[in-house]
Amino acid sequence: MESEDSDPDALGLYMAKALNKFNILYLHMIEPRVIGSRVLEGVENEAPHRLLPMRKAFKNTFIAAGGYNRNKANQAIADNYADLIAFGRLFLANPDLPKRYELDAPLNKYNRSTFYIPDPVIGYTDYPFLQEA
Ligand SMILES: Cc1cc2nc3c(=O)[nH]c(=O)nc-3n(C[C@H](O)[C@H](O)[C@H](O)COP(=O)(O)O)c2cc1C
Repeated sequence: MESEDSDPDALGLYMAKALNKFNILYLHMIEPRVIGSRVLEGVENEAPHRLLPMRKAFKNTFIAAGGYNRNKANQAIADNYADLIAFGRLFLANPDLPKRYELDAPLNKYNRSTFYIPDPVIGYTDYPFLQEA
């Protein structure tokens, strides 16, 4: 956390290649448009594909995260940009996210103000599930 590099693209590519030597099962990378849980202003809707060199270099399963929703994730998989897409804030706010995506149901909105509070329930396990019909 809170670390940075003068050339993160080159470092990421080096790491992806170096990890191949150890036959690591998967590599999970966060899009550089995201810092922590904050998506950089004005780039939420962009698909910069900046992880593509690492995706191509890494031999096993590649997982990307950061600013994805259902459509963007499906597109990324269709484009072979990643093998899997992970979700952070949307999963936090929607404990049944796979079900909601399957049904294309509406999502709960996440509450940024409860992301980092110490309460074990509020903002973590109190988001509602879809009502069973
Ligand atoms: C409550 C919360 C806690 C997080 N904690 C961490 C953390 O400890 N370390 C980290 O690298 N990223 C952390 N993240 C960032 C997520 O791992 C993820 O990169 C980010 O939410 C972007 O993905 P998303 O657009 O699907 O939310 C956190 C995000 C949230 C919402």
